[in-house]
Amino acid sequence: MAAKILDGKAIAQKVRDEVREGVARFAAAHGRPPGLEVVLVGEDPASVTHTRSKERVSNEVGIRGRLRALPAGTTEAELLALIAELNADDAVDGILVQLPLPEHLREHAVLDAIAPAKDVDGLHPVNAGLLALGRPGGLAPCTPVGCMRLLAEAGVELAGARAVVVGRSHLVGRPMAQLLLAQHATVAIAHSRTRDLRAICREADVLVAAAGKAKLIGGDWIKEGATVIDVGMNRDDAGKLVGDVDFEAARERAAWITPVPGGVGPMTIASLLEATLRAAEARVAKQRP
Ligand code: GUN
Repeated sequence: MAAKILDGKAIAQKVRDEVREGVARFAAAHGRPPGLEVVLVGEDPASVTHTRSKERVSNEVGIRGRLRALPAGTTEAELLALIAELNADDAVDGILVQLPLPEHLREHAVLDAIAPAKDVDGLHPVNAGLLALGRPGGLAPCTPVGCMRLLAEAGVELAGARAVVVGRSHLVGRPMAQLLLAQHATVAIAHSRTRDLRAICREADVLVAAAGKAKLIGGDWIKEGATVIDVGMNRDDAGKLVGDVDFEAARERAAWITPVPGGVGPMTIASLLEATLRAAEARVAKQRP
């Protein structure tokens, strides 16, 4: 069976259209658009590209998106002062600090300083805690939220399904597992120390690959009829962008598969826009007497 392609580009477009409508309604009701501040420290080329895209695409849907590009030598005190200023600014609904940070800055100290209600990346311990407890009202990381939307668009039944997440990062693997669990999947998290990764992957009805290793997952690791979500963005020896899954081999066995590029990638920013709108709506709802 040749898998059907889960087209992240098209689905991200649909999400952006939904957000554009919601943003217009919000702006009409509250006299201002939702505001998103993207903070970048340093000049890592991939981070520069990603943060510029976040600023551009947020403005395209009517969000007031702004990139704060700070020099690599910014001190932790300076960064924390900026975050405090953005926390206090009522026109700012979402704050995202691009990772990784330069080594002299402590990631925990920085992420913990963001007001949980504005933490559109879902990386503050309050939001991660709400997600882990299965409690509503928090914000979840954008990439796994985008993966869940892809699964929903494909109509994949998650209740009772065996899901395997390969990777345990705070940005993708862990929150992905929590989101799948919330939809009643039976979830395993595998990682670099997992024994017999192939055998575990072969059990997966839903396989989410977020290990960051080019073509780690071979075609014969895929269960017949599985749904494969590839979060990987790696360069192969020829410099080509490839995922964590051997796409050509895996598509022979899977029912659904995401391509790289054009799968999960476009969903991340679309989910960020959605989170910004949700954060704005939640903040004004809370301020109402
Ligand atoms: N760096 C790579 N992906 C992400 C992300 O989703 N959020 C943040 N803050 N930094 C990233």
